[in-house]
Amino acid sequence: MKQPVPITVAYGDGIGPEIMTAVLQILEAARANIQPEVIEVGEKIYLQGNTSGIPDAAWESIKRTDVFLKAPISTPQGGGYKSLNVTMRKTLGLFANVRPCISYYPFIESKSQEGMDVVIIRENEEDLYAGIEHQQTDEVVQSLKLISRPGCERIIRYAFEYALQYGRKKVTCFSKDNIMKQTDGLFHKIFDEIGAEYPQLEKEHWIIDIGAAKLAVNPEKFDIIVTSNLYGDIISDIAALVTGSVGLAGSANVGGQTAMFEAVHGSAPDIAGKGIANPSGLLLAAIQMLVHIKQYETATLVHNAWLRTIEDGIHTGDIYREGTSKQRTNTEGFTRAVIERLGDTPKTLKKAHYQPGQGSHTHYTVGQYTRRPAAKKELLGVDVVLHWRGETGEGLAQVLSPYNDTLKLKTISNRGVKVYPDSQTESYCTDHWAVRYMNNNEVISHQDIIDLLQRLYNAGFDVVKTENLYRFDGKNGFSLGQGE
Ligand code: NAI
Repeated sequence: MKQPVPITVAYGDGIGPEIMTAVLQILEAARANIQPEVIEVGEKIYLQGNTSGIPDAAWESIKRTDVFLKAPISTPQGGGYKSLNVTMRKTLGLFANVRPCISYYPFIESKSQEGMDVVIIRENEEDLYAGIEHQQTDEVVQSLKLISRPGCERIIRYAFEYALQYGRKKVTCFSKDNIMKQTDGLFHKIFDEIGAEYPQLEKEHWIIDIGAAKLAVNPEKFDIIVTSNLYGDIISDIAALVTGSVGLAGSANVGGQTAMFEAVHGSAPDIAGKGIANPSGLLLAAIQMLVHIKQYETATLVHNAWLRTIEDGIHTGDIYREGTSKQRTNTEGFTRAVIERLGDTPKTLKKAHYQPGQGSHTHYTVGQYTRRPAAKKELLGVDVVLHWRGETGEGLAQVLSPYNDTLKLKTISNRGVKVYPDSQTESYCTDHWAVRYMNNNEVISHQDIIDLLQRLYNAGFDVVKTENLYRFDGKNGFSLGQGE
């Protein structure tokens, strides 16, 4: 027998200890070749004054084992505490969030009765989710949406590779690139670029709003969905609810080195200690973990036993329905039922079958990125954002007119709408004005910008920020104001 694989385990808070005990009992009964190392994270650590919720010793274990099975934890109310999940994802570079959303109808009530089996692969590190926010004027706050080529390439390639590994047929990209042409435009463009390397897979793209609506109504039409962080967050909850219960979903957070597996739900303090929690979400996450550590047979064994238990109608309270279910059980009873069915397979639901090549990667390295040669980058102008309490773009253009020099005022926008020249807008103008300065389409110098800012500063203007306007390899890298 091979050496057992060390894995880091956190029992978590609320129902965490109950469902983790259940899951480890099932894994032990299935003879999973693992050696759990228990760490303490979460509420207890937060309340000791550690605002990250994770002590150094726990980091040491995770970084050594590179595999982390985590029960839900409670984030204490009140400010000052950082989300442990966000800290984990960022610190360990867990860039991919993988969430299978499957309907078990007719054994579990679901809005999808036609065989929903969707895997949502969500970028986990960037986008609006980075929470880079600033107040800039009395009336305007901003949140920065940063999307990077490495971020897009890594998640999109991961999605295509996942599709191949699991015998999937189609990868769908969700973005909003009709509006956000730079950020979502990059995501979509890279989807097309990388997709071309996978001719055997069907590809499609939907604008996120109509895509999400289709996912809610016709989930069986989707297979793998890849999307950016915030959209992924929203659609994975929609998809999980369509399957019937958030309590049934497990997820993996995968990085180049480390992976973390957990249930999708939280610590359910309302039912903690009652012994009635459904361990299925964490068990399905643990099955993903077994695949990750290449214990394919055990993963298959446990998954089929679980499917059979669901089919046999042995259900915990959260999924129990009169007429559909056969026996209402608690955590312990459900655990026993799964263990008793090890070796059985489902009769109606699709059997699980894991095999070498899944969860591990032979011909590509997860998270790899090769930097491209630098583009020819030319500076064409600057957007100077002013905090100004006047009323109209016309009025601002007048007060700014003495300060034109090499850089000339081209347009003024307010919340992205062009308000000078030739303003058509009837929308309200806030105290946040983006003034675009260029020298026709000539290349300018940074000194030109510094000189302009100096003049504006001397004249008493409140410059809250600037955005340089660049051309990359002959293509403008900035948006126009609405109406420009
Ligand atoms: P929750 O997911 O814990 O609970 C929502 C509802 O679902 C509750 O009625 C609960 O009883 C039920 N439920 C959840 N899991 C269940 C299960 N396995 N079996 C049966 N019923 C289940 O969400 P809530 O109440 O918003 O959050 C509670 C705590 O969990 C908070 O402190 C929150 O910060 C934390 N949380 C932690 C997460 C994590 O560690 N990954 C994720 C989400 C929330």
